[in-house]
Amino acid sequence: MTSQNNKFAILASGNGSNAQALIEGALAQNARFECVITDNPNAGVIQRCEELNVECFVIERDSTKQRHEKAVLRALRSADVNWLFLAGYMRILSESFLTNFQDQKNDRFNVVNIHPSLLPAYPGLDGYRRAFEDGIPKSGASVHFVDAGVDTGKIIAQSEFERLPNDDLEQFSARGLALEHKLYTDVFNKILKGEI
Ligand code: GRF
Repeated sequence: MTSQNNKFAILASGNGSNAQALIEGALAQNARFECVITDNPNAGVIQRCEELNVECFVIERDSTKQRHEKAVLRALRSADVNWLFLAGYMRILSESFLTNFQDQKNDRFNVVNIHPSLLPAYPGLDGYRRAFEDGIPKSGASVHFVDAGVDTGKIIAQSEFERLPNDDLEQFSARGLALEHKLYTDVFNKILKGEI
């Protein structure tokens, strides 16, 4: 079964390499992302969207979280979006926001995130840096459903990589990021086909 009626969007706050991988992955499947929303007017993702010809809305944090989420929701509704992909989005979404993406049948929100660690290890910020500084022999990335907690939702897929003897933090993180692009695109393809 495919899910042709689904409409996808990305929320991103930074560089946007995962957003780019998702957008290119979708194009390769004759699918598309309706838009990208960023809360950061200096985010690299804005330029990437221009090059990829995808609409990018900059919605900066307003006076309150509630007002900001309302503005984000308005933009998503105008594009009829029912699936969200978080890609380096630096805000925690409230439960009342997530409820707009409720999937009753599957008891989840149709909101997914990519996280730079093998969850449940290293939730929160700087997953690769903390794993590297702890000297652990392998790390990885996780794609998970988003719930109201911080990186606590149900894990969908994970991918591992080894720490190499001469790795510095930059090399270690770059290996992880490259892995993320493939992992996130694979998960997108499965969602597109209705397999998740
Ligand atoms: C990635 O490592 C992602 O897992 C984390 O933030 C980083 C975003 O990178 N949540 P990019 O903006 O997609 O290049």
